[in-house]
Amino acid sequence: MINQLIWSIGILTLTVLLFQLFKFIIPYLRSSQLLKYKTEDAYALITGATDGIGKAIALELANNGFNVIIHGRNVEKLKSVENEIMTKNTTCKVIHLLHDGSESSKMDISSIANLPINILVNNVGVGPISELTEMSNEEIDKTIMLNTTFPSQLTHDLIPFFKRPALILNMSSYAGLLPPPYLAIYAGTKAYNNAFSISLACELENIEVISLVTGSVNTGSNRKPVSLMRPSAETYAKCVLNRIGCGKQTIMPYWQHAIQTFLISILPQKFIDKVTKNALKKELATKGAI
Ligand SMILES: NC(=O)c1ccc[n+]([C@@H]2O[C@H](COP(=O)([O-])OP(=O)(O)OC[C@H]3O[C@@H](n4cnc5c(N)ncnc54)[C@H](OP(=O)(O)O)[C@@H]3O)[C@@H](O)[C@H]2O)c1
Repeated sequence: MINQLIWSIGILTLTVLLFQLFKFIIPYLRSSQLLKYKTEDAYALITGATDGIGKAIALELANNGFNVIIHGRNVEKLKSVENEIMTKNTTCKVIHLLHDGSESSKMDISSIANLPINILVNNVGVGPISELTEMSNEEIDKTIMLNTTFPSQLTHDLIPFFKRPALILNMSSYAGLLPPPYLAIYAGTKAYNNAFSISLACELENIEVISLVTGSVNTGSNRKPVSLMRPSAETYAKCVLNRIGCGKQTIMPYWQHAIQTFLISILPQKFIDKVTKNALKKELATKGAI
């Protein structure tokens, strides 16, 4: 009788674990549905497209035949990204949107409102590493505005103009799930991005909304070298576009990040806190950013 009970519990546990594993793997095996959004003359708007992940996603979308609206705060960098895109994709139409999202959360979109926009990538974001008390009130306001209010207002303003079917990608971070020290404001904004995205995914009909929970990626603001756990922005952008149509509201596009985060989450909290605090303290000493 006891033996039978132990067997039953064992088989049930194994079944649940296999089911969880299946649920984890399937979204990474599904083929990308990106081209579903490539209606005639389709445009994709990417915020923070002059560097890092945003630039890589803009280039990758152009490679896939989309026209792109690239947002940034620096005219020269916007021109340089446009040149890079046009060199590889001569028929691609590139439009600039110049706006500092930390100065004002409301961007003038009147120049693009009549274009057939099918994709919005809310990528822009900054993450200054700092003790909270070392940040000025202005820096806190600007970080929150750029990372949360700006994408919220932009999404609000663009939805009525979207050509359907449409896609919204929101850039969150592992810091929003496992908030590290010295990144309190950033972690808070990235948790916001994730919650905002999941809520919209349930709310909107005929618009796919995915929260991209991002681990470490080699970019303009994260100069740590490329490794198995830290892809280049270009590799990461390909993974992001491969996850379109994955069926999940929130996903870590790079599967190695998902495994890394799972393994970290099963460690004792005190141990995680101690290790991350030491690591972030070292970064703080060199005044980096994530
Ligand atoms: N890299 C990582 O390890 C990592 C990890 C987790 C999440 N993420 C998220 O991924 C996103 C992109 O990060 P990234 O590492 O690719 O950053 P990045 O290389 O520093 O690029 C940031 C982009 O945003 C633009 N930008 C910054 N401040 C702006 C402002 N006030 N107004 C308008 N544009 C502004 C930058 O313009 P300039 O070229 O003029 O500076 C650049 O185009 C962020 O949301 C970040 O939180 C990154």
